[in-house]
Amino acid sequence: MIKMVLLCGTLLLVACSPPDEQQRLEKMGMPPAGFVADIAKGKKLFERNCATCHGINGIGTNLGPPLVHKVYEPSHHSDLAFYYAIKKGTKAHHWDFGDMPSQPQVSATEAGHIVEYIRDIQSRKD
Ligand code: HEC
Repeated sequence: MIKMVLLCGTLLLVACSPPDEQQRLEKMGMPPAGFVADIAKGKKLFERNCATCHGINGIGTNLGPPLVHKVYEPSHHSDLAFYYAIKKGTKAHHWDFGDMPSQPQVSATEAGHIVEYIRDIQSRKD
């Protein structure tokens, strides 16, 4: 009997936790668990959605800051800050470019590819 209860409990946990976790990730604009990012896709998506302001290869333009700047490396800006900026936009606080508008056309999985691409160019910049 105890075994049955334990088994049911475990099944319930397995059945219930993924959707909760899923909703939590979705709310933050993050890709689903188990998502595998693709840098090449990220590059294309970045060029389509971000490069107007952040420049080709993330070097910045007169509309937005360089994302290869030290301040955006993982030690200063976690991946979450990237997902948040894409989903909600961000108020000007580091620079004088003005606010960044949210990018609702970018889905959570597309954001995942973009973040992977940005981490890649950050790691190769020097
Ligand atoms: C219309 C111009 C514009 C577009 C398009 C844009 N950004 Fe931004 N972004 C900005 C500006 C301006 C800032 C700087 C705000 C500040 O002063 O800190 C910024 C800041 C950021 C930050 C830093 C957020 C923080 O917490 O400090 C991240 C990350 C970012 N952008 C990522 C992206 C990504 C990824 C895309 C494409 C999906 C994108 N941006 C598209 C203008 C833009």
